[in-house]
Amino acid sequence: MARKGNAGSSNILRKKSLDMIIDDTQDKKHALKKSLSWFDLILFGIGAIIGTGIFVLTGVAAAKYAGPGLILSFVLSGIACSFAALSYAEFASTFPAAGSTYSYSYVALGEIFAWIIGWDLILEYAFAIPAIALGWSGYFTSLLHSFGINIPVWAANSASSAPGGIINLPAIGIVLLLGIILLFGTKESSILNNIAVIFKVMVILFFIAVAVWHVHPSNWKPFLPFGWKGVFSGAAIIFFAYIGFDSVSTAAEETKNPERDMPIGILGSLGISTILYIAVVAILTGVVSYTKLNTPEPVAFALTSLGINWASGLVSFGAIAGITTVLLVMMYGQTRIFFAMSRDGLLPPFLSKLHDKHKTPVASTIIVALFAAVVAGFFSIDELAKLVNIGTMFAFVLVSIAVIVLRYTKPELPRKFRCPFVPLVPILSIASTVFLMASLPLETWLRFIIWFVLGIVVYVFYGYRHSKLAQNDYKGVETETLY
Ligand code: ALA
Repeated sequence: MARKGNAGSSNILRKKSLDMIIDDTQDKKHALKKSLSWFDLILFGIGAIIGTGIFVLTGVAAAKYAGPGLILSFVLSGIACSFAALSYAEFASTFPAAGSTYSYSYVALGEIFAWIIGWDLILEYAFAIPAIALGWSGYFTSLLHSFGINIPVWAANSASSAPGGIINLPAIGIVLLLGIILLFGTKESSILNNIAVIFKVMVILFFIAVAVWHVHPSNWKPFLPFGWKGVFSGAAIIFFAYIGFDSVSTAAEETKNPERDMPIGILGSLGISTILYIAVVAILTGVVSYTKLNTPEPVAFALTSLGINWASGLVSFGAIAGITTVLLVMMYGQTRIFFAMSRDGLLPPFLSKLHDKHKTPVASTIIVALFAAVVAGFFSIDELAKLVNIGTMFAFVLVSIAVIVLRYTKPELPRKFRCPFVPLVPILSIASTVFLMASLPLETWLRFIIWFVLGIVVYVFYGYRHSKLAQNDYKGVETETLY
């Protein structure tokens, strides 16, 4: 087939053509099953979004950074994310390929930018998974405690998150269990996900319905105890709560009608989550004083402090189910990013080998689960969350730049969903995201820069040399043995 990309070029800006992306998805040896509908995608999105951020980080963010002004932090972060979501939706509806923004930037910007985004997404997903698992562990440990079962401190906390902690065994256990579930295929995982997501949303609505009657507006005074600076720092932390809508685009290749369903999935899941978040945070800070919210399970704690213990138990149970779905989607997303980068030759080939029957990337899934287990066992949730946030924010900036670039360099592309008011909306996305990045501490920036430099080294010594695009015969080696 005639190709329009500049395959064979030794340039680090070599680009894939749209044909190549479409061919990738038809490459039978490496093709994923197409089984997801728009409804699956909205649930997939909510499954990825609502989790540790709202159920856990809200507490520390209200107590230490923003006070009741955390409501405004959620509004600010939500606005920044909706600008980015419009760019994601345009990309995802134009290029129905697995691997999310990584694949799109290969066409739009060229290989080195695709690599940077892919490496950045690995940071986002690989460290978000253990952070979320730690949030899961907090609610799990406290639910067991309410049944009289106590996990010893050394076995339920990492050394850096609690005095006396050695290893977080519940967090390790849950990532390994979900890794096994993911090995059995997307559709099976998707059914499980849908049930848990519906339960999670019902539990949040239940919290709102029960607690709203106990709001005392006096708890909202002072509204900005840490000033606007606190609101901005709070926004940079709880940004974590919105992460996940972007992972909907990683499932493009497995979606029946991606052109129509991707924008519905991305924008729908973000919109629903934002409304629920603002309601929950307003009620939470109205029910108890923000000064008391620095606990590992603030939403359940608010109900306990009202004396409604049965409702608190139910919310804990919902949080555990809810956070589980976030983990499932993030682990899924990470394996698909490995898959896409490996298929292009930028990462070793074993990462895109599929299981014969289940069509799932086996080695990727095992590696993701093992890595998350090790990190979850030994690090603290806030260290991880900030690192994840900066990586994700950087990806948002790159995607917004890419939308603008692509409108000028490839105006003819059939975009099924168009981000409105380009370049204004992507520019607003870049400005608001950079503002949030600037509110993160220097230490987080340093870790991010180290990760970035490491990525350049891996690209120079591996990706650049093994890139399939660098070989004139783009995917010949992979398909020859097929027929
Ligand atoms: N948004 C996801 C969460 O809150 C990552 O857990």
